[in-house]
Amino acid sequence: MSFLKGKFITLGVTGSIAAYKAVELASKLTQLKCEVDVVMTESAKHFLTPLTFNSITHRPVSIDLFDSNSEFSMDHVLLAKRSEAIIVYPATANIIAKIAHGFSDDILTATILATEAPIILAPAMDANMYDNPATQNNIEILKSRGVKIIGPDSGRLASGLIGLGRVTDSENVLGNLNLILGANGDLKGKKIVVTAGGTKEEIDPVRYISNRSSGKMGYAISQAAINRGAEVSLISASNLLKDIVGAKTIHVSNASQMFDAVKKESIGSDVLIMAAAVSDWTPNSYVNSKIKKTKNDTWQIDLIKTPDILKSINNKGLIKIGFSAETDSLIDNATKKLKEKDLDFIVANDVTKENSGFSSDNNKVFLIDHNTNPEELPLMSKYEVGNKILDKAVSLL
Ligand SMILES: Cc1cc2nc3c(=O)[nH]c(=O)nc-3n(C[C@H](O)[C@H](O)[C@H](O)COP(=O)(O)O)c2cc1C
Repeated sequence: MSFLKGKFITLGVTGSIAAYKAVELASKLTQLKCEVDVVMTESAKHFLTPLTFNSITHRPVSIDLFDSNSEFSMDHVLLAKRSEAIIVYPATANIIAKIAHGFSDDILTATILATEAPIILAPAMDANMYDNPATQNNIEILKSRGVKIIGPDSGRLASGLIGLGRVTDSENVLGNLNLILGANGDLKGKKIVVTAGGTKEEIDPVRYISNRSSGKMGYAISQAAINRGAEVSLISASNLLKDIVGAKTIHVSNASQMFDAVKKESIGSDVLIMAAAVSDWTPNSYVNSKIKKTKNDTWQIDLIKTPDILKSINNKGLIKIGFSAETDSLIDNATKKLKEKDLDFIVANDVTKENSGFSSDNNKVFLIDHNTNPEELPLMSKYEVGNKILDKAVSLL
């Protein structure tokens, strides 16, 4: 289930060459089951038609404040009251100036002036327009009032210039929306450390020993925690997944680096969730240049044990949650690990199950603690598993 499901989001679209990108954002919000009300400025109509958005959101698109057939003829601040967040994507220099100075001469500015909902603006314009002190002052005014400004990004602009002015991508907007709407959740004020991915134990500059962990479980837990207002440190051994907006992400490679990062981040934290697959073994020594093929048919590498991170971290008051990925005797093996590492509870999953475990977007797990019978959860998305883990953690906090 999407965190954003059922949320009323107003999407303001303005007269920028980047207006076409709003189509993608409207589509993503709709797929996440938001109720998306698109408001277009008159200028935006030169770039796209209302029909484009109407076809995607299946809701009326608002343009004219004085349209006697629209909902606004009865209540011109209806959207201001209904919206749970207002996003202006893309935001022209003109709309930024108007909002900063309290104009309300169209539906978008009137809605923004009248709303109590959080406002997100994603500027898009020529680099000189963006750098102009007038625009910079307007942005500062808006920031000081709590408006969230995301971007712009740097790159090639429609004007031919290279510089700051490209509208940020829609995923960044969605990430910020999650962050803002989740800020007052039940984990507000709590610090959570999550690890993710399979560590890489380097043999030489081109080879390493690793495992099949994708990192998806740890990232899903981190996103769920962000959506519930937690401060999240994500220690990741995965390079394949997109950073989570709002999480402090620390990229590591091997078990030793992960251990150092966990020690540091756990100080003052409330919960540690070790979803990473940390290698149990690492090469005894690292060879600085590529090891050459020899005539021998076999090759031995001396391995030594890596530090047991979960067992070693024993900060007072820290809730410790482990993962146990098993191929057999799931409950027995996981229970042994629970006791050995002195965990508050462990998440056990059978990695041989189809549509579950490594690389999958879903997982089928048991939650095992010291006092109750193992709790078997049905197959669900990793995001939902993440929320179940957090629910249990909250009950212990
Ligand atoms: C082809 C074209 C592209 C434009 N792109 C931008 C842009 O990316 N950013 C911007 O601030 N203004 C841009 N403008 C200028 C705005 O459309 C203009 O300032 C307009 O008044 C904005 O109205 P609005 O803010 O109500 O949508 C562009 C104009 C044209 C003709």
